[in-house]
Order: sequence, then C-alpha cells, then structure tokens
Amino acid sequence: MVKTKVIGILSGKGGVGKTTLTFNLGTALTDFGKNVLIIDGNLTTPNLGIHAGIPLYPKSLHDVLKGKVDIYDVMHVLPSSLKIVPASININDLKGVNPEFLASSLKDLVGKLDYILVDGSPGLGKEALSVLKSSGEVIGVTTPELPALTDLLKSIRFVEENEKEYLGGVINMVENKKYEPKKEQVATLLGELPILKTIPYDKQVRYALAKRMPVVHHKPYSKASLKIKSLAARLSGKEFKIPWYRKLFS
Ligand SMILES: Nc1ncnc2c1ncn2[C@@H]1O[C@H](COP(=O)(O)OP(=O)(O)OP(=O)(O)O)[C@@H](O)[C@H]1O
Ligand SMILES: [Mg+2]
Repeated sequence: MVKTKVIGILSGKGGVGKTTLTFNLGTALTDFGKNVLIIDGNLTTPNLGIHAGIPLYPKSLHDVLKGKVDIYDVMHVLPSSLKIVPASININDLKGVNPEFLASSLKDLVGKLDYILVDGSPGLGKEALSVLKSSGEVIGVTTPELPALTDLLKSIRFVEENEKEYLGGVINMVENKKYEPKKEQVATLLGELPILKTIPYDKQVRYALAKRMPVVHHKPYSKASLKIKSLAARLSGKEFKIPWYRKLFS
C-alpha cells in the first residue's frame, strides 16, 4: 500500500491559476513516474475537464456526490497516464449534490495512488471547505497583487483552523512589472509562510489551454513549464535541473 498525499489546490481570489496548476502539476508528477489523480472540486464552475479536453462525459463527480455511482466509474485516464475525475459543466447536475461527501468519496482511493490533487473553488465557502476537509495538505495559489495576496492570507487561516498542513504558496503569473509588489514586500506580507514557487506569466499557458493540453507537454521548455516541473520535482523528491541554456535564453 502506498502513502497517498491528498493535496488541495486553493486560493482566496478566483482566476489566479488553480486549475492550470492542478492539471500541469498532475501531469508533471505523472511524468516523474508517480501515480496521480486530479479531481475537480470546483462543483459550481468546474473547468478541469475543459483544460484536459474532456468537457462532456456521461457521468461525473456530481453523480458520485449524489451517491449514484462509484468514483472509479467516473475516472478517466488521459494519454499521459494522468487520471482525472471531472465534474459536470451542466448546471442541472448541481441539484442534490452534497459537497460534504467529497472526503468520504476519496477514502477508497487512499493507499492506491501517490498523489490526489483536488482543484478547489476560490474563497472560503462550502465548496472550498469540502476540498479542504478532503485534503491532508494544501497549496495556496495567488497572483502578485495585493487583493489576491490578502485573500490568500485568509485562506491560510482557514487551512490552519481546519488543522491541515500548509505546504506553501505558488505566486503565479508574475510579470516583474513595476506595479507588482516586490519580492521582499510579498515575503513581508506572507511572513513565515513558505513560498513553494513563483511562476511567470507565460502566453504558452494560454496556447496550451486552447489546444486542451498541459503546457508542460505543449511547450515543455517554456518558462512556466520549467517552473511547474521544478515544483513537481521538489514535491516528489526528484531531481530536475533547468538546462543552463534555457535559463540564459528564457
Ligand atoms: N502562468 C500563467 N501564465 C499565463 N496565463 C496563465 C497562467 N496561469 C494561468 N493562466 C491563465 O489564467 C486564467 C485563469 O486560470 P485558471 O482557470 O487556472 O484559474 P483558477 O484559479 O482555476 O480560476 P477559478 O478561481 O475561476 O477556478 C486561464 O485563462 C489560464 O490560462
Ligand atoms: Mg479553476
């Protein structure tokens, strides 16, 4: 039996890159030989299936949470070997769904996978809470903007109150523009809280989404891909070195 890490990907503010990170980190961990499942825990506005190119499917996580089917019945295996449990994009499927069942739905999977990454809803509502309760550890995602950083701090309080382990933050879509808070300012705001990785704004992420591909496969050496792969290596204890010429020319 393997030790399964269930990691919730959460944020205070919406649109900061949780789904993008879930899909790409899941792919990168799979490429490092890990057995990984990604789950769309954003039940009201799910996107993970769209990112992965499987937006329409007969059964989804919503049916699992209604007690209709088993989680294995809605698990898809992508060409990369990454497993995915999508949620339904049909608003009618929301009726009768209880997000609180998410934690119990995952119990059967524990011991069978290396990682379960749960893509969360932004904020501190019922949906985000269900993702938090299902997870052992949390990665917080933010952009380098004051509102997003402030909201992340609230999410971290939420993580601590629920006695979950906060692995650290990912500062996404960094452009190093003058209007962004400086690295030191971000560090001061976050205090002792660890920053796992900063990921640059990279238009290849947008191209990859248009192609329904993870950017780590669409452009494996793009700036964002290298950072995501390096995060996957850090989490899984693998070695990953960014080639010196990529550092030079990126
Ligand atoms: N590093 C990046 N560089 C450029 N674009 C990015 C990057 N990360 C994410 N994006 C883009 O930002 C948008 C929002 O990303 P995403 O949907 O992953 O955010 P989210 O936090 O999951 O949103 P929500 O809170 O609505 O679930 C998408 O169009 C995505 O392609
Ligand atoms: Mg999302």
